Amino acid sequence: MKRDIISVLDMKDDMSEIIDLAIRMKRDRYTPHEETRNRVLGMIFEKPSTRTRISLETAMIQLGGHAIYLNPNDMQIGRGETIADTASVISRFLDVISYRAFKHENMLELARYSSVPVINALDDREHPTQILADFMTVLEKKGKYRDLKFSYVGDGNNMANSLMLGAALLGIDISIGCPPKNAPDRDLTEKARKIAKDNGSTVEIMESPVDAVSGADIVYTDVWISMGEESIRAEKEKLFGKYQVNDDLVSHADKNYIFMHCLPAHRGLEVTDSVASSVNSVIFDEAENRMHSIKALIYTLLKS
Ligand code: CP
Ligand code: NVA
Repeated sequence: MKRDIISVLDMKDDMSEIIDLAIRMKRDRYTPHEETRNRVLGMIFEKPSTRTRISLETAMIQLGGHAIYLNPNDMQIGRGETIADTASVISRFLDVISYRAFKHENMLELARYSSVPVINALDDREHPTQILADFMTVLEKKGKYRDLKFSYVGDGNNMANSLMLGAALLGIDISIGCPPKNAPDRDLTEKARKIAKDNGSTVEIMESPVDAVSGADIVYTDVWISMGEESIRAEKEKLFGKYQVNDDLVSHADKNYIFMHCLPAHRGLEVTDSVASSVNSVIFDEAENRMHSIKALIYTLLKS
């Protein structure tokens, strides 16, 4: 049976193994490719991408396969062919499909009609492949998952949803500081809390960014205006002013805290230059880890 990665929850049984494999691949500079040679990935991107696209494409090359970039405007989907028909057709050619979508419903539709694995390369609900790189970076920098406080400050968006689920699966305490009306998805919060409880950790959501960051080992933020939200820019920038990750805010974190961001960053908005470029910042290691972790994920999906 094919295995889709639409949510972080689709890695609930092996997220930690995929991360360990990514760490080994990075350390040993070795990519097994016997089982992945000549396999083809189709990458549908409805929105821009730097890291995810290059990670996917590089990963496929190193795995001995190939990746095809598919812009919906250049496909018949842009002229009205349905997602269902598109999925049914392209999965006859491809071994795996990645999809960056505006709408989660479209992601589900594509996965439903595709006969090969579908990887969510970001939608309005989650960003599961980013989570692999993020917790890989935490493990590299902190040497463990347990007994860490992970804080996320800003918009309760796709990143917050996925980070919350990932932290819960790995037993990391997570504190999210956000405006109440921009809290993470309610259904996913409930799921994350249930998983966290079983794993002896907590998921806390609070209004105060200072409380969220207090004593934190990791301080994470993301853009205030996600792709597709440009029309509500002014309103959101006003609402999020006090959630900026700046020197004052990080002074409440543990002195050995690391700063993380999925990128792209808007320096001067959600994070200041002084924090993003500080010695505590690990954003470029985190970005590099997108490639190692996506490679480990694709290998895991294709070898089985
Ligand atoms: N973090 C991330 O997904 O970056 P891109 O939008 O550049 O792919
Ligand atoms: N929340 C951001 C993440 C970008 C990687 C967005 O959806 O645009």
